[in-house]
Amino acid sequence: MRLKPVVFTVLLTVAFAYYVYIPLPDAIQEPWKLMLLDAGFRATMHLVVNGLHHHGRLSIRKSTEGFEGIMKGLHSSESGGGVMPGVKVSDITFAGIPVRVYEPPAGGEGHLRRGLMFYHGGGWALGSAKKGSYDAINRMVSDELNTVVVSVEYRLYPEVHFPVPYLDCLAAAKHFLSPEVLAKYAIDPERVGVSGDSAGGNLAAAVAQEISIDDTVSVKFSVQALIYPVLQALDFSTPSYLQNQNIPILYRSLMVRFWLQYLGADLSLQPQLLANNHSSMHHSTITPELRARLDWTVLLPPKHKKSYKLLVVEKGSQGITKELPGLLDVRAAPLLAGPEVLYDVLRDDGMMYARRLQDAGVTVTNDHYEDGFHGCFSFIVWPMDFEVGRRALRGYLNWLQNNL
Ligand SMILES: *[C@@H]1O[C@H](CO)[C@@H](O)[C@H](O)[C@H]1NC(C)=O
Repeated sequence: MRLKPVVFTVLLTVAFAYYVYIPLPDAIQEPWKLMLLDAGFRATMHLVVNGLHHHGRLSIRKSTEGFEGIMKGLHSSESGGGVMPGVKVSDITFAGIPVRVYEPPAGGEGHLRRGLMFYHGGGWALGSAKKGSYDAINRMVSDELNTVVVSVEYRLYPEVHFPVPYLDCLAAAKHFLSPEVLAKYAIDPERVGVSGDSAGGNLAAAVAQEISIDDTVSVKFSVQALIYPVLQALDFSTPSYLQNQNIPILYRSLMVRFWLQYLGADLSLQPQLLANNHSSMHHSTITPELRARLDWTVLLPPKHKKSYKLLVVEKGSQGITKELPGLLDVRAAPLLAGPEVLYDVLRDDGMMYARRLQDAGVTVTNDHYEDGFHGCFSFIVWPMDFEVGRRALRGYLNWLQNNL
């Protein structure tokens, strides 16, 4: 019966290949690595979904921990340790919010340093300031740019939902920007930035907006660096949402789910949001002025518009925007604020925001990586490292070097 193991192996290999293989555009480099990474990500998301259906909230947390375990394994946790021996790392709290502070080796004696507040990504549900590539990236920024980096461990779904993560980030930011704290770390008040990727980019944009209009905060962020940020939840049919809906690792349906979880909504609304039923003409709360703020037919360059059509449903579903006021809240969706990238469903969120900031007189650098994909920035540590990720990280460091 020597045949059986062979058959078994072949079947397993076929099943494995079937699970792992996804067609990818030619521009994506290192496609097999991305497929493997995605398979791991999908397997974890399946666990999360099953946890949700069968065991309630407790096991979502367990599954999420499982995900973090995978990410930890992939990234070898606390990875930066030893690489940047000079950077001093302290786990403390800012206004009661846990943060990890990275202080560069060049001491503060006599000269002031830059400051950077960082919010990690992970759909407001995953990830950690302290683990994996975020730790490595922030050590690198601290060391190379002589910057005091503060990475915020804001609370996540399912423990909390909007506005708690935003409020955690805002509280940490206000504490950081206080003259006493800046003095303590020898930071130049003119050179403090805020940054984040994905959901962290959402939090960074929302916090930067609020700080900019809060008269009680005297020191303002001088720059913001947003990496494939999430900025709006009214249109899930932007060209990038449609074009890249099946590109790993951030599928269109997954992003919608992250939004529903963040806003504390019933996940059964997912099909409605995927159909843009939640922003139909019926919703009088979405004024023409508000619609103009995310009208990609005006805000995107023609190159990215291609032949996609704006999807505004006539009837749609009644009342969703009343049930979920977060959909229209600039603290959740910073692209909706008034006038005061990638193979990525979120590409157009970022592109539209760049255009709107420019229209409002802000100097903007828009770095678009044609061969990038969502998450590439945080895949820079072997073996889950991508050349485009290292390039994007280098671009980020260079931009901060020249602008912060
Ligand atoms: C969107 O709304 C229309 C009108 O109410 C409804 O017929 C349709 O089934 C909805 N689509 C989804 C996916 O729920």
